Amino acid sequence: MSDEYDNLNDLWYRYSFDIIDNVLIKYFKPKTTNETALDIGCGTGIQSQRLAKLGYNVTGIDISEGLIEKVKQKFEKLNLRGHKFLLHNAETLPFPENSFDVVNCCGPTLPFIENWESTLKEISKCLKPNGLFLLEIEGKWNFDIFWELLSSIFFDCLDYDTSIKKSLSHFKNLNKGHHIDYSFKTESGANISMPIKLFTIREITKSLAKENLTITKRWGIHSLTNIIPSTILHEANPNALTKLIFSITSKIEKGLNNVFPINSFACSLLLLIKNNKNENSRN
Ligand SMILES: C[S@@+](CC[C@H](N)C(=O)[O-])C[C@H]1O[C@@H](n2cnc3c(N)ncnc32)[C@H](O)[C@@H]1O
Repeated sequence: MSDEYDNLNDLWYRYSFDIIDNVLIKYFKPKTTNETALDIGCGTGIQSQRLAKLGYNVTGIDISEGLIEKVKQKFEKLNLRGHKFLLHNAETLPFPENSFDVVNCCGPTLPFIENWESTLKEISKCLKPNGLFLLEIEGKWNFDIFWELLSSIFFDCLDYDTSIKKSLSHFKNLNKGHHIDYSFKTESGANISMPIKLFTIREITKSLAKENLTITKRWGIHSLTNIIPSTILHEANPNALTKLIFSITSKIEKGLNNVFPINSFACSLLLLIKNNKNENSRN
């Protein structure tokens, strides 16, 4: 998708990227000119660009050759110099301990990584003590889990493409996430389906704690807006009614997105995390 990745015509991504951008601007402030940022799953560099403009020396990694090419071209065009982009799998990171002041992993990226626990371990290792980490994950609990069930009962009318048995199985363990097949149509009409992991807050909090990572703030993205099923919010050309409902629900959601239950009951969870590992492990 590298050629059409930056065409944000649906209602979903422009909105969520805007929230992530505002959080980066508010909480990520380098104190010196040599602070370093790692962007995991940098894609075409939407957050890398913000980090570079904030004054960080950015290293981006991604598993897609096409996207790494795009981000390099983009930075060249924007005259953003001195940043590095590497083709690499985030399950193992090729950096020494404590190399970065901050880490970003949004888009989301972690839910697409098979061995995501290994990625968290690697992040904790290469992030400095007290370093900040912005993580976006997909949430299990939101209107979608109910939309999916409804769709499976009524002949897949909402295009979730799951059986009743599978949709019901997602309610089995309330505290543990599950995988879904994330299906969508690209602008060029191709049908794409990828496995994606949905998390519960309890599950991610526990996994982060194992790596000395603590959530300090969290926001819910696509909570009230998900009153419209996400299969419709992802459409490249939404109709006027969808746009109107989205415009109202997104305005209300934006004002309340760090408040319970919106910061828990949402399609995407944005987590601001601090690395609490021992200061003695600083290089
Ligand atoms: C939804 S995109 C997010 C890209 C970018 N951060 C953004 O917000 O636009 C997810 C990115 O993760 C990358 N990715 C998926 N699995 C990966 C892995 N195992 N290691 C590194 N990158 C990965 C994909 O190639 C893709 O660029």
